[in-house]
Amino acid sequence: NGVAVSISFTVYGICLCRARTARTGTTWTQEIVDLLLHNGDAEVCKRAPTAVRIPFLEICAPPPIPSGLDLIEQMKPPRVIKTHLPIQLVPKGFWENKCKVIYMARNAKDNLVSYFHFDRMNLTQPEPGPWDGYIHKFMKGQLGWGSWYDHVKGYWKEHKERNILYILYEDMKENPFREIKRIMHYLDLSVSEDVIKRIVQLTSFQVMKDNPMANYSYIPKPVFDQSISVFMRKGEVGDWVNHFTSAQSQMFDEDYANQMKDVDIPFRFSI
Ligand code: A3P
Repeated sequence: NGVAVSISFTVYGICLCRARTARTGTTWTQEIVDLLLHNGDAEVCKRAPTAVRIPFLEICAPPPIPSGLDLIEQMKPPRVIKTHLPIQLVPKGFWENKCKVIYMARNAKDNLVSYFHFDRMNLTQPEPGPWDGYIHKFMKGQLGWGSWYDHVKGYWKEHKERNILYILYEDMKENPFREIKRIMHYLDLSVSEDVIKRIVQLTSFQVMKDNPMANYSYIPKPVFDQSISVFMRKGEVGDWVNHFTSAQSQMFDEDYANQMKDVDIPFRFSI
């Protein structure tokens, strides 16, 4: 679940956010936004890796990952920025300057599975430990960037008032043309239907998996060990059924109903 913000493309540009630390389709959204801003020009969007084209606001990691703040300082508007911060920690300037914010969220079970594999291969993250224990850590909000539940609810509750575009991974999978058009309108951009179709193709899972500027192959060990699990892993809705036992699923669902009872976010666990 990611977010992007813009202040009429003058101060910050666009900010992309997601729920929890990663694994909700942030990189996908970043590629779509970059292509929309460049009229679907694939070559221009291969000018640098994702993390350089669209800095990660709060990242402060060992090389070769660039510091988000250093990159942002060097950028000229429109600035597109990625963050995983929960809404209460987004710097006030984003709101005061009316940055556009695109929030990408993904159903909890697929997010959990994806994050588990990410924690296995990201050597800068804590060890995920056994699968069963990881499910409990997720439910208790004991993973990086805190509780998934609080994160998705925080943005959901304020999305109308703050003019946040709240998009769902499952909707994007189901109909990328429709969702990319929504993003285009939200950003006050206008590209032709043919260009949108090209962006759908350029941001398909397989094309991005093969694109060295979008697949994070430029971040090797000791940060990512992609021999354990690749960054562009499966890109599917419903992979959780291959991980949860029926007892784990039932236990998760009961807790989910309780933690999510105060909101009605239309997440889907299959499409
Ligand atoms: P999986 O681990 O389920 O494959 P993020 O960029 O927020 O870290 O999210 C990464 C997740 O988004 C991974 O999920 C990755 O495969 C998926 N993803 C990235 N690009 C995608 C695309 N073009 N289409 C579908 N899923 C994509």
